[in-house]
Amino acid sequence: MAAASHPCAELRTMVRGKVRVNEPLSQHTTLKIGGPADCMVLPASLDDLVRVVRWCHERGVACTALGLGSNVLAPDEGLRGVVVRTKPGLDYLRFMGAEVIVGAGASVARLVAQAANRGLAGVEGLAGVPGSVGGALVMNAGTRTGQIGTVVRWIRALDATGTLHTLPVEQLEFAYRSSRLQRERRWLVVEAGLRLTPDDPQAIRQRVDEALAYRNRTQPLQLPNAGSIFKNPPGDSAGRLIEAAGCKGWRRGDAQVSEKHANWIVNLGQATADDVFELMLAVRARVLEQTGIALEREIRLLGGLCRRWAAALGGPASPA
Ligand code: EPU
Repeated sequence: MAAASHPCAELRTMVRGKVRVNEPLSQHTTLKIGGPADCMVLPASLDDLVRVVRWCHERGVACTALGLGSNVLAPDEGLRGVVVRTKPGLDYLRFMGAEVIVGAGASVARLVAQAANRGLAGVEGLAGVPGSVGGALVMNAGTRTGQIGTVVRWIRALDATGTLHTLPVEQLEFAYRSSRLQRERRWLVVEAGLRLTPDDPQAIRQRVDEALAYRNRTQPLQLPNAGSIFKNPPGDSAGRLIEAAGCKGWRRGDAQVSEKHANWIVNLGQATADDVFELMLAVRARVLEQTGIALEREIRLLGGLCRRWAAALGGPASPA
């Protein structure tokens, strides 16, 4: 498509942030996988973001929000329409006593570190969780020692038309790795108000360090990955089930079920989205066959992958 007629050309005249044509998603996902986005916008501010979402809505152009890309599988064919990032325009943290307003594009790691430095407890259970605060809020990210939903007071989010709403925590329905935002899919989180609790900075720092050390010991952080692939089923652990089903080390192309943690898939070099997708299906089918437990996805599938996943689960299970 000629640059002048490309949707990016018009967006460039409307926003202060960067607009990139045919931007490889592999450069924006921690799995290092994904074909080109027709158009990627890195908004400079909330105004930019609102303009982009409204523009997409008015023209019927697909608009996909992307944070730090740490919990997503992006398709090999890339994404049509516009991908809008929450960074750098929304990566602020504003502390006011024990309250903090945090932009969706800020990293969870920065939130955890700054809260610890100020002697504020409540988010150290998120230590080591990759990704952005926006992504963490949508899926109520966390670890065994805490999840983000417990400190949220409200969030501000755009609906698909680009209208801004403030939603109090009572309306967010946070549960284990889920929220109303995730179920309804129509929200683009822009910021949240959190309430933390003053505590001894040294004690907080120690809890953070312990969580980071545990993560280093048990998770394959040296290779491109997207964190846990499946949610833990009630009362059990996806990693334990996948290992017991004999899937550790399984490969499709360069995608591998990690030898270190069975609920992680790592990219050994040239893995494609299809490799990861097929491996996920094979693992899920084997666990189902051996235990009767149907694992639920934790990672977000972008573009056509989501429909493919639903279709595949409706069809016959694929053995390894
Ligand atoms: N296990 C196995 N085999 C494996 C992996 C784990 O038997 O290959 C067993 C472990 O021995 C342990 C149990 O499964 O008894 C749970 O494993 P782990 O402690 O590693 O925690 P997890 O439930 O797999 C959760 C979060 C992680 C978080 C860790 C540590 C989910 C889906 N994942 O993992 O969340 O880092 O606890 O707190 O809830 C992430 O996955 O990216 C993440 C941030």
